[in-house]
Amino acid sequence: MTTPVQSKLLKTSDARALPAGESYKGIYIVSGIQKKTDKNGKTFWDISVSDERGTLNAKVWSDAGWVDRSNPDPESKPGFLAESEISSLRGHVVGVNGKTVDFRGQVQHNFNTITLLDEEKFSPSNYVAHSEIPLEILDSRFDDLIGKCSPEIRDFLRFVFDGPRLKAFRSAPAAVANHHAYANGLIEHTVSVTEAALAMANHYRDIYPSLNVSLVIAGALLHDLGKISAYAMSPAPEITVQGAVLDHIAIGFADFSRLAGEAGLAPDISTQIGHVILSHHGQKEFGSPVLPATLEALIVASADELDFRLFCWNDATSDMPAGQSISAFNFAMERRFWRPRGDDDASR
Ligand SMILES: [Fe+2]
Ligand SMILES: [Fe+2]
Repeated sequence: MTTPVQSKLLKTSDARALPAGESYKGIYIVSGIQKKTDKNGKTFWDISVSDERGTLNAKVWSDAGWVDRSNPDPESKPGFLAESEISSLRGHVVGVNGKTVDFRGQVQHNFNTITLLDEEKFSPSNYVAHSEIPLEILDSRFDDLIGKCSPEIRDFLRFVFDGPRLKAFRSAPAAVANHHAYANGLIEHTVSVTEAALAMANHYRDIYPSLNVSLVIAGALLHDLGKISAYAMSPAPEITVQGAVLDHIAIGFADFSRLAGEAGLAPDISTQIGHVILSHHGQKEFGSPVLPATLEALIVASADELDFRLFCWNDATSDMPAGQSISAFNFAMERRFWRPRGDDDASR
């Protein structure tokens, strides 16, 4: 049975919402590509593509066409891509003809034709995903949070978040996958974690009066400082060599310690904020060398984990086709998520 090809180019989020049995076209940037073999020994390319609205994963089987239209000369004839060119498509803009198929009850995307496009006409920067929250709003929420701190901590935060470091912080992704893996993702995640941590701190300071709200804010704003160097947009989010072999927690602690020394931050404040940075993943098996041991570190680690989990829930469930309320299996969170639709019948 043939299905009508969607004449409009679909964004990744719209393509992800299609039911099985649809054909579509799209222009995306390749964010990952890997040759794999299925259980029957058939080889295929596992490809992920992105645009400003998110990421889409697809399979490309051996009968697909790989076309090269990257030559800007209008007279040039399109060619075909060699395997070495296919394997180095990451960061390049492609046009695809896609089709959705049902695979064990889940919608799977297959690309039948992949065309490498001319980057003068299709600039990679136009297809890079970024935060849906405007940067001016994130900036103003970030500044408000700094403004709530005690004078010494406020001055230190303004010293850290300044010049090229602030510029890099505002544009960085918070990850290469799983959560806030897009431009401006780090500031979006940081503001969200800090606002959540502040709400918790405001609640608990009545119960535990020694809780230092300025330290909670500073620790939360600085907790992922190392991601500035650990990740890069090139043009899709990518882990750097430093990120891979040092990790953002160690990088962040080293950068923070150096900056605290340069700014002359009081040693007791420096140790407390350093502890929040080192312990913010909450468990040693998640990369923290020490476990949260202060009120402030416990709050920041909880807010960071909650922000990650809620993002995963929304990411997994927001683009589900109408009528579907249970997400595909989420490997990062080791579960399927549920977005109740009101007409879900628990007995079924
Ligand atoms: Fe982190
Ligand atoms: Fe984080």
